[in-house]
Amino acid sequence: MKKLRHSSRLTLVLLFVLTSPVLALPQSPARSEAAARFFPAKDLMRVGVYYYPEHWPEGEWDRDFANIERLGFEFVHMGEFAWAFMEPEEGRFDFAWLDRAVELAARHHLKVILCTPTPTPPAWMAEKYPEIFLVGADGRRREHGSRGNNALADPAYLRFTERVVMQLASRYGKNPAVWGWQLDNEPGAPPDYGPSAQAAFRDWLRARYQTIDVLNREWGAAFWSLKYDDFDQVRAPNPTLLYGVSPHAVLDFRRFTADQTAKFLNWQAALLRRYTVPAQFITTNYISTTGSSDPRRSGDLDFISYTMYPVGGGRGLGEDGFRLGWPDGIAFANAFYKNIKGATGVMELQPGQVNWAYINPQPMPGVVRMWLWHAFAGGLSFACNYRYRQPLYGSELYHYGIVRTDGVTPSPGGLEYSQVAREMRELRAKYDPNARPPANYLARRTAILWNQENLWNIDYQKQTGLWDTWGHMFRYLEIAKSFGAPLDIISEGQDFSSYPVLVAPAYQLVDEELVRKWTSYVEQGGHLVLTCRTGQKRRNGQLWEAAWAAPIRPLIGAEVSFFDLLLEDGRGEVTMNGTAYQWNVWADVLKPNEGTESLAKYANQFYAGQTAVTYRRLGKGSVTYVGVQTKDGRLEKDVLREVYKRAGLTTEDYSQGVYVDWRDGFWVAVNYSSKPAEINPPKGAEILYGSQPLKPADVLVWR
Ligand code: GAL
Repeated sequence: MKKLRHSSRLTLVLLFVLTSPVLALPQSPARSEAAARFFPAKDLMRVGVYYYPEHWPEGEWDRDFANIERLGFEFVHMGEFAWAFMEPEEGRFDFAWLDRAVELAARHHLKVILCTPTPTPPAWMAEKYPEIFLVGADGRRREHGSRGNNALADPAYLRFTERVVMQLASRYGKNPAVWGWQLDNEPGAPPDYGPSAQAAFRDWLRARYQTIDVLNREWGAAFWSLKYDDFDQVRAPNPTLLYGVSPHAVLDFRRFTADQTAKFLNWQAALLRRYTVPAQFITTNYISTTGSSDPRRSGDLDFISYTMYPVGGGRGLGEDGFRLGWPDGIAFANAFYKNIKGATGVMELQPGQVNWAYINPQPMPGVVRMWLWHAFAGGLSFACNYRYRQPLYGSELYHYGIVRTDGVTPSPGGLEYSQVAREMRELRAKYDPNARPPANYLARRTAILWNQENLWNIDYQKQTGLWDTWGHMFRYLEIAKSFGAPLDIISEGQDFSSYPVLVAPAYQLVDEELVRKWTSYVEQGGHLVLTCRTGQKRRNGQLWEAAWAAPIRPLIGAEVSFFDLLLEDGRGEVTMNGTAYQWNVWADVLKPNEGTESLAKYANQFYAGQTAVTYRRLGKGSVTYVGVQTKDGRLEKDVLREVYKRAGLTTEDYSQGVYVDWRDGFWVAVNYSSKPAEINPPKGAEILYGSQPLKPADVLVWR
């Protein structure tokens, strides 16, 4: 690829695009169908609140909605836990209260996101149909008294769900005040070991394997005489009760569990659509890094939203990190959720202190606003906070809202939300539909390939307690963002060719088709980075009857001889270009073929001198294999910088926790680090908000 300078102009871009072997580089990523249908580009990001009319005297609703409007919010979110109010007795529905709430909201120019109340079955249902609750890994059936504990395969629960969803759909499906729908709440209940789930799991297996012999083979059921004669003998594998249950069975059970959640949501969406007008969207709000479900499987929804609580007892970066919040959270969620359907929003974003962490600190003044701007920068169509009023009762007593316990005085985070709602309005006035992303920025578009199945498989058999699958991936996300790269988290089914750089971190489960796809991506000019653990196993979680990680050997041009793991205080050493780095978590020891470069080598242990990182050119692109995870990620960053450089891509050098993104003509910089950061907008830039240097918890916006 041609070398580009930071200041390259359009001519150079064209030259780049024309000469770049990766052909499909868009000038500006097209707006998806979901985005175009529900979210006019000129609206940028809408800001809203959660409101629970059922928690407050009706006499306060009008005042509350009036204040919500006055603070600048544009929508309210209601109903996800209100089943007992919607259906106070079996088969008797009462929506009069919700009618009034929706109407009042509309009178105050607030759009409404209505929810299906399926996480909270009423007491009457629990009493008469206890089978609606799931059975946990402890073998005990859940009971009334909480939320999100439902047996998604239980016929009674599904019958009641169908009825309440149809009631809602027929009543509000054409109501112009209703902007869209949220299904359930944070889907992804714990795995269900109850009878209805067991039966559904067996059906799922029958459909997948057809005959029990195939299941026995795919599960390696000869091991410990696990071998089944019939599908009816199969039980959901339960590692809480049993030692060493089959990893292949566990992987399938996790797939099944995620499919159950997705099926439940897709089915609810289909029910709603019998009545809803096309203008109303249907979404749900997954926990940003959900482990028990797979947001991509909810394909029938219009788009998928996420929930985000950046300050919840984590350390963050530096001294004030615990108040600034989780630096990877919003960056990941924006890149992942938007990519699923081309549009997304953050359905819940913390407005202040929360109640559920081990330690619940006050967020840093200003940081709520910063998170909102970070959400905006990631292309989100809306941001909603959890919640408008601080509760006076219930398990979330200490949870901040937009207003304090008196119901009217804005909290500090509430004022910051209000400020962003105002700033969005100001920004809309400056919106230019013809704005295009700068060429050098677009040229380093990077994708991370992510498949939830790798997470499930690795986490069941980590091989080292020091391993953190999410953390391993976040490390590469942070590197790409520190380079100032636009980032998407993509799936295998997608076209890789519009990304000059593709990183597949710890991609443990592969098949030959994926390896072929990677290979042709590289041959056509892509720059592929694979990291340790990649290619070890088949999709069923079994090892290859061949050399270790055999399918990727021709691609990476090296043999993975073995891997090593050190103790927590271990001091493994790697060197690259004379610089030393330390590792202790994971080391794939590599033997490069002729023609493959050895970028970094191990410097101690019994394999000192052997290779840790390889690089080779293939066709018009390159393949890098990073076999080691270092302690601080410096080696990985230095390797990737070299990869971008050799690919002719310019990179920035933002410090950790500083994110700079372009959206709709605006540059946004945010700072999660505990230190001020120099951002250096180009000369002549018009600064819209903020100043230099960028302080922690602050925002710099320019165009
Ligand atoms: C979310 C959940 C909300 C509320 C919130 C409190 O995970 O979806 O319903 O419980 O946490 O922070």
